[in-house]
Amino acid sequence: MNQIAKMHINSDTAVYGSLVFTCEKLIRHAILHPNRFKYLVQRCQNVITIIGSGKVGGDAALFSALRKLDREILLLDVVKGLPQGEAMDLNHMLSEQGIDVDIRGSNDYADMKGSDVVVVVAGSGRKPGMTRMDLLKINAGIVKDVVENIRKFAGGSTIVPVTNPLDPMVHITYKTSGFDRNRVVGMGNMLDLSRFVQFIHEATGYSRDSIRALVIGEHGENMLPLPRFSTVAGVPLSAVLSKQRLDQLVQETRQVAAKVIELKGATVHAPGNAISSILEAILKDKKRVIPVATPLDGEYGQSNVSIGVPAVIGRGGVEKIIELDLDQHEKEWFHRGIDSVKSALAGL
Ligand SMILES: NC(=O)c1ccc[n+]([C@@H]2O[C@H](COP(=O)([O-])OP(=O)(O)OC[C@H]3O[C@@H](n4cnc5c(N)ncnc54)[C@H](O)[C@@H]3O)[C@@H](O)[C@H]2O)c1
Repeated sequence: MNQIAKMHINSDTAVYGSLVFTCEKLIRHAILHPNRFKYLVQRCQNVITIIGSGKVGGDAALFSALRKLDREILLLDVVKGLPQGEAMDLNHMLSEQGIDVDIRGSNDYADMKGSDVVVVVAGSGRKPGMTRMDLLKINAGIVKDVVENIRKFAGGSTIVPVTNPLDPMVHITYKTSGFDRNRVVGMGNMLDLSRFVQFIHEATGYSRDSIRALVIGEHGENMLPLPRFSTVAGVPLSAVLSKQRLDQLVQETRQVAAKVIELKGATVHAPGNAISSILEAILKDKKRVIPVATPLDGEYGQSNVSIGVPAVIGRGGVEKIIELDLDQHEKEWFHRGIDSVKSALAGL
């Protein structure tokens, strides 16, 4: 057995025999001895690729760099100059912050070779008055093309689809990639959840930090904010707010994205941050419970469809799907979402 075979990497640490190195220490060591522990150093340097360097892609790179999730982020786009310019702008910001994450821009899919995680945020966004479903046909073609390239150049990666309409795009990603379903981790409900938390914060005046909220289902008109599974410092929301007020917050959570788009043309910072939060859970092997859109195989009585469900997210992507005991009203909304995603997929 050679040296490399005896070593293994466990999230932030490298283990060799009885010696345990943090990745940070290993990388410092490698500067003095470039050929020693080369393999382990490479494993310590995650590479995030973000395909689509527009508003949300650029912001996802910004938040991921600030969280210091890895040493390199690659921004890819079909528009010549855009990812390169975005990378320069972000690197200038990181220089002042003293953060050694290198952001590169490229128009060549081959550059994503060796990526651990690939975010797909390429495609058109909603214009005022459009629903996410209006985007379906345009973005399905873009996502298929992008995912074929991921399969070709980053076959060992985990994919984080973001392009809307999210749930059908997750399913297209799963089918086109041929990846195991745990390696398809769609970001949608994570953003819905942050909006629900904001409404609870505004309604109660309590710290955002004390609020644990959950939103599952379709990332769209049929999303399912779950007051019954949400708390303020462990106290059920039903003990803090009236049923009528909670119904209002649920409705506002469903509608607020359209309002932001109407006012400023797009949603940018909250989705960029939510993407980086999912990347952190994967790359740091957090085992964090997050609602993500992923293909179902019998869970919630559903198959051949992808939708948002709570899941344990770690280095293995979706490591476990958590099945909630939904009541009749919650089931109705969840199934509305399932029907909507299934009819979107059938229409393609
Ligand atoms: N899931 C969510 O919660 C969520 C939140 C916000 C936005 N979105 C979606 O994310 C997508 C991007 O939104 P945005 O505001 O950043 O849009 P944007 O127009 O600012 O950026 C999209 C980028 O994708 C690029 N692109 C198009 N085709 C490509 C291809 N084949 N390969 C590489 N790049 C390609 C475009 O050149 C553009 O730079 C939209 O579909 C939007 O609806 C999803």
